[in-house]
Amino acid sequence: MKRATVGSAALASAVLGTCSTFAKEAPPIAPAAPLRLDVFPAAPQRDIVIRACAACHAPEIVVAKRHSIDEWDEIIAKMVDRGAVANEKEQQQILEYLVKFFGPT
Ligand code: HEC
Repeated sequence: MKRATVGSAALASAVLGTCSTFAKEAPPIAPAAPLRLDVFPAAPQRDIVIRACAACHAPEIVVAKRHSIDEWDEIIAKMVDRGAVANEKEQQQILEYLVKFFGPT
């Protein structure tokens, strides 16, 4: 019996192609201007968000677009993967903050 040659490359690309939200990579951002921390409204979680999310890029990057709770959840996970420093509890607080002020309209 002959074995059918299955296109394993097609399978691999189907698996790798599942991360759709972040398929488009923006160029790295070098914040030369002073941080515009005023884009973050006052709230108990604000300091955590500033510490964890304004370390690599300007705050404006974070708040440029509104996102649903699921999207924010994914973004936070992705940023933590990249090196954002926030434990589980802090990630939850960041999520609450971002959804409250920058959630869907
Ligand atoms: C270790 C560095 C680092 C930290 C810390 C970090 N980010 Fe990012 N972030 C990046 C880089 C690099 C990009 C640009 C590449 C991209 O868009 O995927 C980015 C882009 C973004 C974007 C735009 C993405 C898009 O596709 O529109 C958002 C929103 C964002 N970050 C939110 C956050 C939030 C929220 C936090 C805090 C939990 C955070 N970032 C912390 C590195 C970081």
